Amino acid sequence: MSEPKKLFVKTYGCQMNVYDSERMVSALGSDGYTEVDTPEDADMILLNTCHIREKAAEKIYSELGRFRPLKNAKPDLKIGVTGCVAQAEGQEIIARQPMVDLVVGPQAYHRLPDMAAKVGNGKTLVDTDFPEEDKFDHLPRGPKMKRAPSAFLTVQEGCDKFCAFCVVPYTRGAEVSRPAEKIMAEARDLVERGVREITLLGQNVNAYHGAGPDGVWSLARLITELAKIENLLRIRFTTSHPNDMDQDLIDAHGTLDKLMPYLHLPVQAGSDKILKAMNRKHTAESYFALIENIRAARPDIALSGDFIVGFPGETEEDFQATLDLCEKVRYAQAYSFKYSERPGTPAADRKTQVPEDVKSERLARLQALLSKHQAEFQESLVGKTIPVLLEKHGRLDGQLIGRSEYLLPVHVLANAEKIGTIINVKVERSDRNSLSAREVE
Ligand code: 5AD
Ligand code: SF4
Repeated sequence: MSEPKKLFVKTYGCQMNVYDSERMVSALGSDGYTEVDTPEDADMILLNTCHIREKAAEKIYSELGRFRPLKNAKPDLKIGVTGCVAQAEGQEIIARQPMVDLVVGPQAYHRLPDMAAKVGNGKTLVDTDFPEEDKFDHLPRGPKMKRAPSAFLTVQEGCDKFCAFCVVPYTRGAEVSRPAEKIMAEARDLVERGVREITLLGQNVNAYHGAGPDGVWSLARLITELAKIENLLRIRFTTSHPNDMDQDLIDAHGTLDKLMPYLHLPVQAGSDKILKAMNRKHTAESYFALIENIRAARPDIALSGDFIVGFPGETEEDFQATLDLCEKVRYAQAYSFKYSERPGTPAADRKTQVPEDVKSERLARLQALLSKHQAEFQESLVGKTIPVLLEKHGRLDGQLIGRSEYLLPVHVLANAEKIGTIINVKVERSDRNSLSAREVE
């Protein structure tokens, strides 16, 4: 047998990239590659990139520059750029950084092993096509490797919403749902490998409408069927658009015990003027009505959101409306960003850009409020007994880290054999982004 070739993958950005990187590792694994933790002795380096904010392409070029000495020392080292920067920049990457051997967009990963075999010694390949076939068609071959208790599973990709700030409809393409039976098979395979929690991924996951054996399945239907898999204990999904939250999915939060009471439902802003300028196609009022509907189905649901401050045209009054919305909703957790101009998106060309210092100042105010609400949410759990799915070892001796139903990490002293099981814990303390707890019977 030949020596295994070494593969180093660096992943940027969202959970979908994490999932994609895993699939690339397993696809290349069938071709004799094993994953390594450092680029130094790798035979192939892949940068799986993100384009959502900031000068992503520039960062990738400077990161690539750092691999120059490795390539000089080992000319047959293959270097690839994948992900959304690959999709956005294509051939340009090789023009600017000739040591790159291959550029592969997110819709072409199934061709990666073939491409990897062909490139090198001056031969380069670029593939940013959007094919018809299912890029995830190939389940990993070989022995059933044990997996960590929590796994991602992509069910939907791309987006048709065209929010005015967002590159996703361009880099990931139109919305496509994977066939339901393929997802069910992948979920069963994960559970056989020890997975107990699955997070269904999609840029617009609740728009899922995959072909099923008896017609089109919605996300609610898919979750209902997944919930029947024995030993699959928890189901989550992310990320959702408010307009695709149908009643069946809301009801599922009230009826399916395995569907966790946590929902990431980005609103982006609280001013209707800005929401319209963002092409979000919902108002602050309709968003809030939706939240009330969801809370009626599952009163303890923990809500999470995404916010953009300093979108073109945002006044202090508009920003105030975002703060007001947060006060009304009270998110358990949230992500907030300064608006960042993305070339090719409608908002990037607008003349009403907000100055950087104003953006920074608003972001600081918003984050202070969101942190206060997060701390209040966490404090409300102190003294309560809650179930925790144990996932891995913590930093301290005997300490394990698990997650509450609300996705919040929990530190607890427990027997390592319990990793992969749900135990009850009494919450003793709330820390910055986690809880400390004690195991109870
Ligand atoms: N600028 C700032 N934030 C952005 N997001 C997407 N595009 C941009 C942008 N151009 C944020 C949104 C989205 C999250 C994934 O990233 O809040 O929900
Ligand atoms: Fe981007 Fe989400 Fe809007 Fe789609 S719904 S365009 S992925 S922010």
